[in-house]
Amino acid sequence: MKTKTILLASLFATTTLLSANEINATKLFETNCAACHITDLSKMSNKSAFIAPPADEIMTHAKEEFGTDKAKAVKFMADYVRNPDPMKSFCASIETFGVMPAQKDVVTAQEAEAIVSMMYDTYPRKAFTEMQSKEGGGHRGMTFDKLDKNKDGGITAREFQIFRAKKNNIDPNKFVNTYYFDRIDLNHDGKMDEAEFDKMKADKRRKKNR
Ligand code: HEC
Repeated sequence: MKTKTILLASLFATTTLLSANEINATKLFETNCAACHITDLSKMSNKSAFIAPPADEIMTHAKEEFGTDKAKAVKFMADYVRNPDPMKSFCASIETFGVMPAQKDVVTAQEAEAIVSMMYDTYPRKAFTEMQSKEGGGHRGMTFDKLDKNKDGGITAREFQIFRAKKNNIDPNKFVNTYYFDRIDLNHDGKMDEAEFDKMKADKRRKKNR
């Protein structure tokens, strides 16, 4: 009888814990993530003040990367949140922000999953996407010739960063890493040639059309 009561009690405790996690995903996000991943649309134009990509931006890129495969996106991101790795990050902005601090001791694996699942369902919001397309940031309108200013057939990491800084209205001095460029520079000669540029553009297009 006693064991039965204990069993029932622990079963009850587990169930409430599980549902509490799901119900509180928004609250967990507010407490642990929102200070870095802002959601206030009125602050989105001042990109130089960002310390991390806004939640809408993360999910815009996550959906380019994983499309409608929510399960895959959630699995990747829940793991990333607790074990970030600059080589795995899909945020090009990692060059300005650096890698995210690991949240292993902040949220459990289950909590991380609940939070990113909520983020996937909530972001990007329509208002954010509309704002973005008005601003015309990202890679739109980018051609190899425009970037290769001195016409030597190669774009250095710094040239690419300066271009992205101007296009996205960010202070070029904020670019302190070259993680993103290093992945584009497939033969690692320190320059992006036209073939590497074309591949980057094609990858972007392929992801967008998913
Ligand atoms: C101290 C600031 C900070 C906190 C707190 C923080 N993040 Fe981040 N996060 C970042 C930065 C910076 C990046 C971009 C660089 C990168 O990808 O590592 C990022 C990237 C991400 C990404 C994209 C991963 C990818 O593949 O590029 C996800 C998802 C994410 N954060 C979720 C969260 C969640 C969920 C929390 C709360 C549990 C959280 N973050 C807390 C700074 C933070």
